[in-house]
Amino acid sequence: MRILVVGASGTIGSKICNVLANHEIIRAGRNGIDVSVDTTVEQSIKEMYEKVGKVDAVVNASGGANFVSVAELTPELNERGIQSKLKGQINLVLLGLNYVNDGGSFTLTTGVMMDDPIPLGASAAMANGGVKSFVKAASIEMPRGIRINSVSPNAVLESWGRLEKFFAGFTPVPVNRVALAYKKSVEGAQTGQNYEVY
Ligand SMILES: NC(=O)c1ccc[n+]([C@@H]2O[C@H](COP(=O)([O-])OP(=O)(O)OC[C@H]3O[C@@H](n4cnc5c(N)ncnc54)[C@H](OP(=O)(O)O)[C@@H]3O)[C@@H](O)[C@H]2O)c1
Repeated sequence: MRILVVGASGTIGSKICNVLANHEIIRAGRNGIDVSVDTTVEQSIKEMYEKVGKVDAVVNASGGANFVSVAELTPELNERGIQSKLKGQINLVLLGLNYVNDGGSFTLTTGVMMDDPIPLGASAAMANGGVKSFVKAASIEMPRGIRINSVSPNAVLESWGRLEKFFAGFTPVPVNRVALAYKKSVEGAQTGQNYEVY
C-alpha cells in the first residue's frame, strides 16, 4: 500500500511508520521528510495532496489543543484545538477524499481525555469528541468503499516525562501498542471505529 502519514516525525507518528514499514510510506509534517503540510491551513493540505497524488491510506498523528482550565479558557485559546486537532483532521478527509483509492482508508487521532477527563483538558476533549463523532457518522456514507477510523491513545510512556503532571493516576501505555491500533485500522477491514488504547 501507498500510505501518507501526517505527523510522521512525532512520538506516535514515527512508531506508526515503523509498524507500517512493509508499505510505501510518505512522511508529512510542517517539516515533513517527504512532503510538507500545515493541517491548520486548507491551501497547504490541498498542495500536499496535489504533490503526493493517489494513496491507499491517510493516517494523521498530528494536532494539538491548549491545556487551560475552563475558567481561563477564552474563545481565542480554544481556537487552537478547533483549528488543529478538530478542523485540521477533518479537512484532511474532506480535501483528501479524491486522492484515496477505492477501498482505502483514513485514520485520525483522538485521545483518552474525552473519556476520562483531566483538569485543563476540556478544549482537547472537545476536539477529540468532535473527531470521534465525525468518524462514526462519516463512515456510513464514505464513497467507493473507503473506510474511516480513529485511534484514541492513552498518554504514552514515551511522552510521560512531559505529560505525567497532567495525567495524575493514569498508567501510560507503550507507544508500540498505540501504533498497532493504526496498523489495525489501515490493514484491517473495520470502519467507523474509535480504537481505545487505554
Ligand atoms: N503523546 C501522547 O501521549 C498522546 C496521547 C493521546 C493523544 N495524543 C495525540 O496524538 C497525536 C500525536 O501526538 P505526539 O505526542 O506523537 O505528538 P508530537 O510528538 O508532538 O508530534 C507531532 C507531529 O505532528 C507534526 N505536526 C505538528 N503540527 C502540525 C501541523 N499543524 N500540520 C502538520 N503536521 C504537524 C509534527 O511535525 P512538524 O513539527 O514537522 O510539523 C510531528 O511530526 C496528537 O494529536 C496528540 O494529541 C498523544
